[in-house]
Amino acid sequence: MNSKDYIARENKFGAHNYHPLPVVLEKGEGIFVWDVEGKKYFDFLSAYSAVNQGHCHPKIVNAMIDQAKKLTLTSRAFHNDKLGKYEEYITKYFGYDKVLPMNTGAEADETALKLCRKWAYNVKGIEENKAKIIVCEGNFHGRTITIISMSTDPDAKKGFGPYTPGFEVIPYNDLNALEKALEDPNVAGFLVEPIQGEAGVFVPDEGYLKKASEMCKAKNVLFIADEVQTGIARTGKLLAVDHENVRPDILILGKAISGGVMPVSAVLADDEIMLTIKPGEHGSTFGGNPVAAEVAIAALEVIKDEKLAENAEKLGKIFRDRMKAIKSDRIEIVRGKGLLNAVVIKPIDGKTAMDVCLKMAENGLLAKPTHDHIIRFAPPLVINEEQLNEACAIIEKSILSFE
Ligand SMILES: Cc1ncc(COP(=O)(O)O)c(C=O)c1O
Repeated sequence: MNSKDYIARENKFGAHNYHPLPVVLEKGEGIFVWDVEGKKYFDFLSAYSAVNQGHCHPKIVNAMIDQAKKLTLTSRAFHNDKLGKYEEYITKYFGYDKVLPMNTGAEADETALKLCRKWAYNVKGIEENKAKIIVCEGNFHGRTITIISMSTDPDAKKGFGPYTPGFEVIPYNDLNALEKALEDPNVAGFLVEPIQGEAGVFVPDEGYLKKASEMCKAKNVLFIADEVQTGIARTGKLLAVDHENVRPDILILGKAISGGVMPVSAVLADDEIMLTIKPGEHGSTFGGNPVAAEVAIAALEVIKDEKLAENAEKLGKIFRDRMKAIKSDRIEIVRGKGLLNAVVIKPIDGKTAMDVCLKMAENGLLAKPTHDHIIRFAPPLVINEEQLNEACAIIEKSILSFE
């Protein structure tokens, strides 16, 4: 079978809920992936920032294999000998009293919303069913009915109603709008992405997160950070909120917490919030399974051992400088932080961001457009400077090939 056959089979038997680039990958190692024809590519998506530690990192894969041979799943009906070890490790790593383990990012976001509502009724004293959570325009928190109820993206939302009530949408990066929304005493939480990834890597103004967190504190409203995409060293710090020394009341993590080898997500909070949820009120069959526990410890160790935040910070600056130096009218904006970056492509002569991505794939680099005209560039954080320069040359050559 060749790539065309694999793609045809997926199209015939799989739901059409994605529009992938026409490459069929069969192997990954570090920053590279290979297709079924043996062609090698730089991976500049990292599975939407899940593979921060690089593909098939041996330490993470070995942790997975070793645990999988011993015990894979107990459910939470019984204890297992790995969960507590992981809980102690991750809470100390991020500095919170407790963790609630889940699997996907969307589940972790749902968990945070439920925690926020429970806290609103049990601690803040909001009247039952009146709690409101503020979210931002352009948000992306996943695909469940409740999460798309907060979405402002018609593709994500339209045709899936009726929607879950209890949310107020305000513009992103707008402190005046937040101040106004916080006047309502029924507001329990403010859920925000420190950088809006799916929306196109929108970086808010410096000071926005700090000020927003202070405003929430003053109104006894929980500041909830969705770091599913921005967390785990991606933006040049362990967390994107660390750039402004903000400590969220609830921290949501996913993706790279497993180095991309399996779905692992986590919600972190202190006791006042976390202990509002009692046995039987929330959970997941696979959440906190022993394989996930061992994998997540290994993945988080790799981040520190290999100094990936520092590498992302340093190479991110070089990447943006290189992109800004490309002499092409097609490049409208270069933005980002650490190794989470985007280039906004102006369509000229009918050539769009998708055409640029197809050309880059031809030249050996994979990236994907988001929202038609924006290309997100997010390589595994194990990339070195020489490799980054080689990749930048491919991007430059691809863009200039349309001149
Ligand atoms: C900020 C953010 N939150 C949540 C999610 C959802 O994660 P998952 O696809 O694992 O459900 C994503 C996925 O891209 C994300 O970027």
